Amino acid sequence: MSEPVANYDWDAEAAAFDEEPDHGLRDPEIRRAWADRLCGWLPAGPADILDLGCGTGSLSLLAAEQGHHVTGVDLSPAMIDLARAKLAGRDAAFLIGDAAAPPVGEQRFDVVLVRHVLWSLPDPARVLRHWRGLLRPGGRLVLVEGVWGTVSPAGIPADRLTEFLAPLVSDAGHVRVERLSDDPLLWGRAVDDERYAVVAVP
Ligand SMILES: C[S@@+](CC[C@H](N)C(=O)[O-])C[C@H]1O[C@@H](n2cnc3c(N)ncnc32)[C@H](O)[C@@H]1O
Repeated sequence: MSEPVANYDWDAEAAAFDEEPDHGLRDPEIRRAWADRLCGWLPAGPADILDLGCGTGSLSLLAAEQGHHVTGVDLSPAMIDLARAKLAGRDAAFLIGDAAAPPVGEQRFDVVLVRHVLWSLPDPARVLRHWRGLLRPGGRLVLVEGVWGTVSPAGIPADRLTEFLAPLVSDAGHVRVERLSDDPLLWGRAVDDERYAVVAVP
């Protein structure tokens, strides 16, 4: 992905967002690479997935295609419009709201899925505590993050994210970090910065 910036005007970005290879997943090989990874991160059976900061719904669509029910939340109405169009006719619902406090009431989920959003939220440790509270027993957090760029790096390193998760994970739980930097198919090019996914079962 291109280097992300906090405090973007995401409504203004929405129309062109899918032009980045890892955003729109329009290239079949890139799409398959993300679908394969996602399949390894999500539970086997149909699950309720909460995709926070869902953007145009590219990962939501992959999850729906794998048989899951998706609820997407994004602050940007323009992103939500595109996500609704992308998943029209699918088992999915999209809400405008803050990823840090999603407007889902008492509903609980098997998976909280978040790609390229956590790093930009104030107080990620507090946000992660809230997200853990949105999980059903046995549920998991799937967090795709990174540190983009080498000159003025932006993002959250995997070590820091796992430190935030440690107090949330019981002895019976586990945290797995999967490195994504080595797979150019995910990004449409070779990358040399830090990109990873964390699957945490608290
Ligand atoms: C880099 S994009 C990632 C989109 C999507 N997760 C993906 O991977 O394709 C960041 C998205 O997070 C959304 N966003 C940023 N801050 C947010 C917040 N506090 N609550 C909800 N959405 C937020 C933006 O509107 C944008 O759609």
